[in-house]
Parts: sequence; C-alpha cells; structure tokens
Amino acid sequence: MSESVKLIYNGNEFELPVIFGSEGERAIDISTLREKTGFITLDTGYANTGSCESAITYINGEKGILRYRGIPVEQLAEHATFKETAYLLINGRLPTREELTRFSVLLNDHSLVHEDMRAFYENFPRSSHPMGILSSMVNALRSFYPELQNLEEEINMTVTRLLSKVRTLAALSYKISRGHKVVYPRPDLAYCSNFLNMMFDSPVRPYELDEDVVRALRVFWILHADHEQNCSTSAVRLVGSARVTLYAAISAGIAALWGPLHGGANQAVIEMLSEIAEKKNMKKAVERAKDKKDPFRLMGFGHRVYKAYDPRARIMKKMADKVLAKLNISDPLLDIAKELEEIALKDDYFIEHHLYPNVDFYSGIVLRAIGIPTNMFTVLFAIGRLPGWIAQWRESIDDPKWKLYRPRQIYIGPKETSFVPIDER
Ligand code: SDX
Repeated sequence: MSESVKLIYNGNEFELPVIFGSEGERAIDISTLREKTGFITLDTGYANTGSCESAITYINGEKGILRYRGIPVEQLAEHATFKETAYLLINGRLPTREELTRFSVLLNDHSLVHEDMRAFYENFPRSSHPMGILSSMVNALRSFYPELQNLEEEINMTVTRLLSKVRTLAALSYKISRGHKVVYPRPDLAYCSNFLNMMFDSPVRPYELDEDVVRALRVFWILHADHEQNCSTSAVRLVGSARVTLYAAISAGIAALWGPLHGGANQAVIEMLSEIAEKKNMKKAVERAKDKKDPFRLMGFGHRVYKAYDPRARIMKKMADKVLAKLNISDPLLDIAKELEEIALKDDYFIEHHLYPNVDFYSGIVLRAIGIPTNMFTVLFAIGRLPGWIAQWRESIDDPKWKLYRPRQIYIGPKETSFVPIDER
C-alpha cells in the first residue's frame, strides 16, 4: 500500500511518499524534498523528525510501551539476564543456551584492561567526574588493540571488549579515585556480580553478594539497555556515520549521556531531592518548576517521547521499595520522591504538560541503596546503555542506505559584507 502526501506552494504541487512502521507509525519521506522543491525542513531538537528506520526498540510514548526487539521490557526485567538482553539487542534474538555460554566465556576472557591504562587513571585529578574518565578511557582502548584486517572479526572483537571492559574501566575509576586497592574481575562471577565485586570488595572486608542487590542492578541495566533514538544514541549514530571506530562513537555517546537533561538527570534528581530534604521546600520546588522565568526543572520529570508514565519508572519505583526493605534501609529521599510525584501528578501544570516521572526519578534511590556513589550514577546508566548503543551503531553500518549525518540549516546571519582593516574598525 503506497501512499503519498501533496505539498502545494505557489500553485505548484509536489508529491512526497509516506512510509509506515510495523506498529503503524507514519512518516513523510522528505529525502527528495530539496531536489523537488528547493525547500528544506526545520525542526529544532528533532522532535518531529525521524533520523532512521530501526528494528531494535519500539516506544509508544502515549501508552507508555517499551519493547526490545518486540519483547516488552517488563518481561525482560522479570525473566532475562542482562547478558541475554544485550545479546537480544545486538543480535536481534535471544541466545540459545550454547550461544549464551559462549558469550559468557568471551566476556570473561576480555574483562581485563591493559595494565598500562592504570597510568591514565593515576594522572586524572582525584576530583574528576567518572563520566569524563569513562569517555576518555573508552576512546583510549583503541590505542591498545591494533585493528584486525577482517572487518567482521574486528567489529565482533570490539563489541565483546567494550561490553566486558566497560565494567572494569568504571570500577577502576571508583577504586583509584579513593586510593583503594584495585579489584580484578573474577572468572567465577557473572556479569553484574563481577561489577559489584570490583566496586566494593576489599582486602580487609570481603564483599558479600546479596542476590536482591544483584537483581536490582540486573533490572536497572535491563531497563537502561536501549531507548531508540535518544540524544546519546543519536550521538553514537552521528559520530559513527563518519566511519570512526566503535570506540570513538561510544565515547561520544558517553559524553552526550553525561548531560543533566539526559543520563545525568539521575544524579541531578538525588541532588534535587537532597536539597528539598535539607531546605524542606517541596512546594517551592514545584512552584519554581512551573515558573517560566525560573530555569529550575523538576529533574526526573518529563520526557520528549513519553507523555504517560515511563514504564521503566514504574518498575524502578517498585524496585526501590523492595531493595530498601530487603536491606532494611530507610531513605528519606524515597519518601520525598513519592510525595513530590503525588503533588505533581495532581497539579494542572504537570497534567497539561504531560509531565510524569521518567526512568531517572527513582533509579538514583535504588543505586544509593546498593552503595553506588552519586557521581557514578550516570556511569551505571552508560554501562546499561552500552548494548543499545552498539546495536544501534551496528544497525546503522549494516544499513545499505547508511550515509554521513550532515543536517542543513536556515541561515539568518548578515548578508555579504567586506573585510575591514583593523585601523578602520
Ligand atoms: C532521559 O530521550 C530519551 O529516551 C532519554 C532517556 C533514555 O532512556 O535515553 O529516556 C533518558 O534522558 C530521561 C530524561 C531525563 N531528564 C530529566 O529528567 C530532566 C528534566 N526534564 C526536562 O528537562 C525535559 O522534560 C526533557 C529535557 C527530558 C524533555 O524536554 P523536551 O521534550 O525538550 O520538552 P521541553 O523542554 O520543550 O518542555 C516542554 C514543556 C515546557 O513548557 P512550555 O514552555 O511548553 O510551557 O514542558 C515543560 C517545559 O517548561 N517541562 C518541564 C519539565 N520538563 C518539561 N517543566 C518543569 N519540569 C520539568 N522537568
């Protein structure tokens, strides 16, 4: 069923094809617009612009639906491991038992980082933000691995190295920033447990793995694993379109995720809740969030795509209750978060603007409960999102229509003028 739309301008009629997604989404294909009409489109922030066709993740923002390769995220959070979810996103299907075993062996074999990388960490100021360190270290990985001649082998090896080493790189920044003894990955621990052990094990206090804490981290990473064409994924695709290495594209994605409007919001939420707890100014915070003259935003609220409750926030909220109860922790910030949500969801401003809690609103409460320091929250988001970034990058380079990302612009600057010698200025 081929359909089209007609554009009428100055008595001329232009026809543009309509394309349909597998869930009924519709797009006007404007790839011939400028050639046919001399026009380009303008869509600041790309709120109405599709950058690609993708078969990886489906979001219905109005209904609060999120599926990875067709599987609802709720089912994956309940039944899958993070490794299975990563395999699903990257390979398009869940692994067989044999494939999962082989994947696990590969991840174990590539979990160490070159000892010379320690020198980089030693030379960062101790106060450096772990996201800046992670972005640098992922890019630096490239220098330690000569490119393989066979492209497919090079890609598969790089994917495995990144998925496995990202945990080690993150834990290294934590341990070294505190002057603690570095803990190596262990062959007897699974993906999530290995990371927790590298973070928290100590020669004087061996880390005891708690199955509920491991489950909380597994669910956290599954919920963050992909989210179609968000800011950092678009950065990975855009930088990747210049045909750079996957290391460089992922490093760009980490840099984009760091922003407080994006992945950095999970850290900003905790800082906001802590300030509300200290100043006891919840109602003022809500009023400030509604005040157009005030740049303050309710962090962890609102979303470009979800105009309903973020399904990930719903799971995270339940996870927060469960983990705090299991660890017998009473975190006042969770009570404040719940009260803030209750006030906001009854407030006309938030209702009219379709502002609901997003994935970042409760996730920090869970990370705090399992002992992750606040400045590492977005690093944890990055580790979770890595399989999605890789899957999206892989899909883009396998796309026969793949081309360099190079948007146009509408120029609003001065008309032609001339150079003025300095003595005449
Ligand atoms: C993530 O894209 C993804 O998929 C991202 C992500 C992923 O998994 O990759 O889901 C992860 O980044 C989640 C979002 C985390 N960021 C935050 O929690 C920061 C707080 N949220 C906002 O800054 C905002 O909601 C954004 C940036 C998330 C989305 O904003 P948009 O789509 O650019 O919309 P906008 O800023 O133009 O806001 C539309 C209206 C405005 O009011 P009007 O001028 O139309 O009257 O809603 C208001 C905004 O002022 N608004 C808010 C608000 N968010 C939007 N007002 C108060 N508090 C907020 N949080």
